[in-house]
Amino acid sequence: MPNKNPESTESQPAAPNPRREFLRSAGLFTGTAALLGGGLELLSRRPSAAAQSVTPGGLIAQAKRPLGPYDTTEPVTPYEQATSYNNYYEFGTDKSDPARLAGSLHTRPWTVKIDGEVRKPQTVDIDTLQSWFPLEDRVYRMRCVEGWSMVMPWMGFPLAALIRRIEPTSKAKYVQFTALHDPKQFPGQQADVLAWPYVEGLRLDEALNPLTLLAVGLNGRILPNQNGAPLRLVVPWKYGFKNIKAIVRITLTEKQPQTTWSLAAPSEYGFYANVNPKVDHPRWSQATERRIGDLARRPTLPFNGYAKEVASLYSGLDLRKYF
Ligand code: MTE
Repeated sequence: MPNKNPESTESQPAAPNPRREFLRSAGLFTGTAALLGGGLELLSRRPSAAAQSVTPGGLIAQAKRPLGPYDTTEPVTPYEQATSYNNYYEFGTDKSDPARLAGSLHTRPWTVKIDGEVRKPQTVDIDTLQSWFPLEDRVYRMRCVEGWSMVMPWMGFPLAALIRRIEPTSKAKYVQFTALHDPKQFPGQQADVLAWPYVEGLRLDEALNPLTLLAVGLNGRILPNQNGAPLRLVVPWKYGFKNIKAIVRITLTEKQPQTTWSLAAPSEYGFYANVNPKVDHPRWSQATERRIGDLARRPTLPFNGYAKEVASLYSGLDLRKYF
C-alpha cells in the first residue's frame, strides 16, 4: 500500500461538534435538499436550527452538542485534510486521486442488497435505509495500517440497528460487505490492482458492537464521495482498510468471508486487523503513528484506544495468529 507523506504539518483548531440529524426531505429547506442532491436535508432539532448556514458542501449546523459516550475529545482532523488525503483504490493508488476523481461516482439512485442468513432479505434504496434509523454523531479516531491517523466526526447509525431489523437466522456468524463494481465510474477498476469488487467482513459480534457504525455523513455534511458515499463502514478499533466505502451489498454468512486485503497479501493483512501496537506489519512497526497535521509520532494504543469497549470480544484469541 502506498505510504506517502502528503499534507501540511500545520496543526489546526478542532472543528465544531454540531448536533444534527439527517432527515428525509419533508418540504422544509427545499433549496438545501436540492443542493444535497439525495432528497436529504440536514437539520438540527434545537431551537438554534435557524442559525445554520448553507454552503456548497452542504448544510452546516452550528449548534454544539454534548459529547457522547464514544466520542474522543481529541482535535478533529481538518475537513480539507480528511477529504483530500484518502485511500480509495477504485479511484487510483495515490492519496490525491480520490478527491480529484471521485466526482465521477453517482451516489443516487443507489440501492443496498441485504441477503444471506437473514429472515428479511431485501434490496433497499439508500434514502429509505437511512430513514429507518436516527442518525448519530460519533467522533472517532481512525488508524490506517500504513501508520497515519486522523480524528473523524462521522454521522451514521449503528450497524447493530440494521442487523436487528433484518433478523439474522441462527446460522449467521459473519457479515460480509461488498462495494460497488463499476469500472465506468471507478477508473481504478480498469486495472487489476486489487480483486474487484472491494469486500470486507466482520464477525457478527463485532458487527453488533455499539461502536460499529454505518456512516452517511462527515463533519455535518453528506459524506463526500472520496470518503465513501453514500454508505461506508466505520469500525474504529480496526485498521482503516476494514472501513469499506461505497457499500452495495450486506450479506450475513455462516462462514468467515473473504476480505480484499487478505486476498491481496495474506501474510500482511489478516481478517481481524485489530489495531495492535505489539504486532508489527511484516514491513514496518505498528508501535507508533503520525496524526495527520502533526510532526511527531505518538504511541499507537491497543485497539486504537477502544480496548475498554472491545477487548473482551477477543478473550482467548491469540492476536498474533488472528491479526
Ligand atoms: N473502501 C473501498 N471501497 N476501497 C478502498 O480502496 N480503502 C480503505 C478504506 N476503505 C478503501 C476502502 C483504506 S486502506 C483506508 S485507510 C480507508 O478506507 C481510508 O478512509 P478515508 O479515505 O476516508 O480516510
